[in-house]
Amino acid sequence: MSSAFGTETVLDVRHWTDDYFSFTTTRDDGFRFDNGQFVMIGLDLPRPDGGSKPLMRAYSIASANWEEQLEFFSIKVADGALTSRLQHVKPGDEVLIGRKPTGTLLISDLHPGRNLYLLGTGTGLAPWMSIIKDPETYERFERVVLCHGVRRESDLCYRDYIVNELPHHELLGDVLGERLLYYPAVTREDFVFDGHPHRGRLTDLMASGQMMADLGLAPLDPARDRAMVCGSPAMLADFRTLLDGRGFTPSMRIGVVGDYVFERAFVEK
Ligand code: A2P
Repeated sequence: MSSAFGTETVLDVRHWTDDYFSFTTTRDDGFRFDNGQFVMIGLDLPRPDGGSKPLMRAYSIASANWEEQLEFFSIKVADGALTSRLQHVKPGDEVLIGRKPTGTLLISDLHPGRNLYLLGTGTGLAPWMSIIKDPETYERFERVVLCHGVRRESDLCYRDYIVNELPHHELLGDVLGERLLYYPAVTREDFVFDGHPHRGRLTDLMASGQMMADLGLAPLDPARDRAMVCGSPAMLADFRTLLDGRGFTPSMRIGVVGDYVFERAFVEK
């Protein structure tokens, strides 16, 4: 096996729906990362000649960097080379984890601001699960708006954790206070949240201003608001058009500060 990867043990697996699952693993003491980063993970697949070959894909780390375990959130693709296998992992199984986390979804690459919009569709939620557990996020922004766009209400994975558990977390509860806002949106069935209909794509809900109105926030303002975007290539393109059109400047490179950062969600395979 290549030394580019370490081996960790699966601790817990959660099957949210037929399409989404998540799992936690042990974490090597030496494995350091910034919240929002991704890493290569995978399985060592046996080869006919008796050897083995690592099959690796990029995954956002869904746990915060102060947590003891690592967590990953994945789609299940029936004929996907990795996820068709990975979705069957069980506690005690071993997975490979790359040694070099990286990625553009870093709060340090955003100008200071008032409201931080975390915009994710599908598994694009994963990096936000790390970022909303980072105390520094709340030092840098007055409000953190976690937006998750999915097809059906049942796809709103982590909803109960975000709404009911995290606000009572013994260390983070006080830091979060009223400052973490959750904005779920469902496209393919009616959905009411906090007394408001939340049906539609996040792009449309933000462009129309409905999102800010529902949340009781001021209209989008590039002077004071910041965004992080994670989703499919089409979702990124649409959000980039929207944000650029409103006068937001993207960070185009790690270490270069902007009004928003973006990264493709690793939805495959
Ligand atoms: P829609 O149902 O209109 O396709 P998926 O399940 O395909 O990963 O999609 C997750 C969510 O992202 C769905 O609600 C989907 O809406 C939405 N979505 C797909 N494309 C875009 C886009 N270009 N901009 C914003 N949201 C999108």
